Amino acid sequence: MAKSILITGSNGLIGSEVCLYFSRLGFQVHGLDNNQRAVFFGPAGDTRLNQQRLVDAIPGYQHHELDIRNRVGVLALVKEISPAVIVHTAAQPSHDRAAAIPFDDFDTNAVGTLNLLEACRQHSPESPFIHMSTNKVYGDAPNRIPMMELDTRWEYADEHREHGIPESFSIDQSLHSLFGASKAASDILVQEYGRYFGMPTCCLRGGCLTGPNHSGVELHGFLSYLVKCNLEGRHYSVYGYKGKQVRDNIHSEDVARFMHDFSLSPRCGEVYNLGGGKDNSCSIIEAFEMVEALTGRKQVYAYIAKNRIGDHICYYSDLRKMKAHYPRWDITRPLKQTFSEIVQAWHKRLPS
Ligand SMILES: NC(=O)c1ccc[n+]([C@@H]2O[C@H](COP(=O)([O-])OP(=O)(O)OC[C@H]3O[C@@H](n4cnc5c(N)ncnc54)[C@H](O)[C@@H]3O)[C@@H](O)[C@H]2O)c1
Repeated sequence: MAKSILITGSNGLIGSEVCLYFSRLGFQVHGLDNNQRAVFFGPAGDTRLNQQRLVDAIPGYQHHELDIRNRVGVLALVKEISPAVIVHTAAQPSHDRAAAIPFDDFDTNAVGTLNLLEACRQHSPESPFIHMSTNKVYGDAPNRIPMMELDTRWEYADEHREHGIPESFSIDQSLHSLFGASKAASDILVQEYGRYFGMPTCCLRGGCLTGPNHSGVELHGFLSYLVKCNLEGRHYSVYGYKGKQVRDNIHSEDVARFMHDFSLSPRCGEVYNLGGGKDNSCSIIEAFEMVEALTGRKQVYAYIAKNRIGDHICYYSDLRKMKAHYPRWDITRPLKQTFSEIVQAWHKRLPS
């Protein structure tokens, strides 16, 4: 019988990619999503198209229309499926949106994660539990690193950060946003179920996760939204730091590949900074140049001097721990290719 996998947030960018990836490996795929993204972000955040894509593409795909805040429902579902692997990507994912919906944010990100962890402890404690965390658990502490200003980007002016931000970086005593706080709570819970109960859990502290299947909106989905603005000739708003703030971009398939490697040889309560690393980083104005080169359209944008609260000036992940623990894994999608896939995807989705 095929092994089963439960993927929460299956209609979303990462969840849908993970569903497809594990289905190709022969898993029986169970997706859990209630299209909450459309509630968080309005119609532009609707994920039903992605859900239909999974139904069409994956033989025997089972969709579970469930809210992870529904504790009784989550316990019953995990008991029924007893998944061999759990990938948890359902979340309120926006830094900026959280302040307007603090209860929904915390109930989803922190309490929803606890519901899943406890359900797994009761019904499938041996199964690897892979949690999508975020680099926002570090709050704005990365901004305290000395920086130098280059022509098109900020860069670390500290030789210790030559490879980027490691997992040992402090998550304490910095400004996180309510989103960063709710995600830090879930990150600690996932570590604790690994350390205290010995369960095979890990937190993947993502940088900018991206790919052709993101329903990018202004408040979440940096490259996807930027490309959409370019193709629609819409203003992109740049908030502060001269547009030179550097983001760390990783293709969703490289994320799924790492999850698979972890599931094959899991460890307890681990933490990894999962990003594209320095080679796949770009500033916003560098991203404009890359998209313009692909579409031939000049990016129109408005500059707002005030930066987003807690936004990182420069962040890219130190990938050395991931590569040391899982030497088979590496980045397979260079940034340029990822851009090109996103452009092609929006060409198909936007009315011509
Ligand atoms: N995309 C990024 O750049 C990025 C960066 C760092 C971390 N992450 C983390 O990765 C994970 C996935 O991000 P994504 O970009 O795929 O987000 P996404 O918004 O595309 O997907 C999340 C999915 O979860 C669903 N969901 C939300 N609340 C739910 C609930 N209460 N019950 C059931 N389903 C619910 C949404 O409908 C959506 O389909 C999140 O935990 C996010 O914090 C993402």
